[in-house]
Amino acid sequence: MSDTKYVMAIDQGTTSTRAIIFDQHANIIATGQKEHEQIFPKAGWVEHDAAEIWVNVREVVGQALGRASLQNGDIAAVGITNQRETAVVWDKRTGEPVYNAIVWQDTRTQKICDELGALGGGAERYKDRVGLPLATYFSGPKIRWILDNVEGAREKAEAGHLAFGNTDAWVLWNMTGGPDGGVHVTDVTNASRTMLMNLDSLSWNEEIAGEMGIPMSMLPEIRSSSEVYGQGREKGLLAGMPIAGILGDQQAATFGQACFEVGHAKNTYGTGNFMLINTGTSPVPSKNGLLTTVCYKIGDKDAVYALEGSIAVTGSLVQWLRDNLGIISSAPEIETLAASVEDNGGAYFVPAFSGLFAPYWRSDARGALVGLTRYVNKGHIARAALEATAFQTREVLDAMNADSGVDLTELKVDGGMIANEALMQFQADILGVDVVRPKIAETTALGAAYAAGIAVGYWSGEQDVIDNWAEDKRWTPQMDTDERDRQYRLWKKAVTKTFDWVD
Ligand code: G3P
Repeated sequence: MSDTKYVMAIDQGTTSTRAIIFDQHANIIATGQKEHEQIFPKAGWVEHDAAEIWVNVREVVGQALGRASLQNGDIAAVGITNQRETAVVWDKRTGEPVYNAIVWQDTRTQKICDELGALGGGAERYKDRVGLPLATYFSGPKIRWILDNVEGAREKAEAGHLAFGNTDAWVLWNMTGGPDGGVHVTDVTNASRTMLMNLDSLSWNEEIAGEMGIPMSMLPEIRSSSEVYGQGREKGLLAGMPIAGILGDQQAATFGQACFEVGHAKNTYGTGNFMLINTGTSPVPSKNGLLTTVCYKIGDKDAVYALEGSIAVTGSLVQWLRDNLGIISSAPEIETLAASVEDNGGAYFVPAFSGLFAPYWRSDARGALVGLTRYVNKGHIARAALEATAFQTREVLDAMNADSGVDLTELKVDGGMIANEALMQFQADILGVDVVRPKIAETTALGAAYAAGIAVGYWSGEQDVIDNWAEDKRWTPQMDTDERDRQYRLWKKAVTKTFDWVD
């Protein structure tokens, strides 16, 4: 146990950035939060302003420290967790991003992916080495797009002036000094989302980087998820504080949910949904449309791997109903609107806004609302939108059961949408297994806090995580099997209507 009392996690997410301060029992002491702009320059394009994100990091850190009346000396360590795959490219001399961050949901790199696949092997070209299919989701092709399309970027990159990172590396580099000596480092979990890292050796694959036209000098050093990477910059809010944990947000949630045994799984309901199952210390290839990814690596212990089912659009569909259609004025209103009807009225909503991720990996898919009649009203559409989250999760669970050969008997859940009781009941009904919510629902930030706290001895290891985890609520399936099968069959049919929508 350390003299200082708290650990801070910075959660740089898709829609907002948060700082959360935890005590040793994983209680939340204070939180700061700020949303950033979602930039949609063209259909299928999604960007963030990385400079705005860095300003927000500083603001939320100040909010959290201020609300708890703490000084930086009260913080034993800082952990970073982040939206993965989102690509930031910046000039190391000035600290300026050369282009907006290209977000994981963005589909502009389709042509690049097709061209790389055409070199041989199609979408599976790199899969045996990096665990991922060639798809617009991952960082590598996004870096290539920036170098091909931003004037002068390739020359600067080849001269060694540009740096790439997911937002973890961008935040860490700025926190530790930016152009005045910032540390250019990422962790194994983020690196495993770039399509550029060998899963076995946990090192960059020069051949793949070469094919993508990405100079090695742009890439951060790959380190474990739990070690001291550097200290907060002088005169910064966290001056001198050890920054000691980095985990991609879904891996952080898996860690925070104490999924430490082979076969333990969690599902996070955020802008998208991400289910990860721990597969132990060897990477397991998927035959059913899942990703093989690094789950975590604590210091110099062996890396632990996971199979992941990524779903691009779940919570962000609720935001879309609010912002683009205006049928609700706040996200929680969806629950009331959906409860105004008995069922979905025959409507099925497949939100393939970024193509379809797991288990299909169809970049050519686009969203579809099917089964419409004059009977359908906005309540049915709200209900179909929520149900889409549960059906997509069922597809991923089926893939996990098929890959692992063992059926999951319960599913730990976290994330914003788990506050929606009706959705969680429907989820249990459609999966046919119990759905379990932990007492501390902030598992993403907590996972990053644990990684940082373990590195500095604030927590002793995984056993502390297990001891702090407690069940809050359990939903048990109530739907009869025939009805579950009927609804799932219609969902599967609806999915087929989204294919082949891109010319
Ligand atoms: O892979 C994308 C994922 O890391 C984003 O998560 O929670 O920011 O939507 P979230």
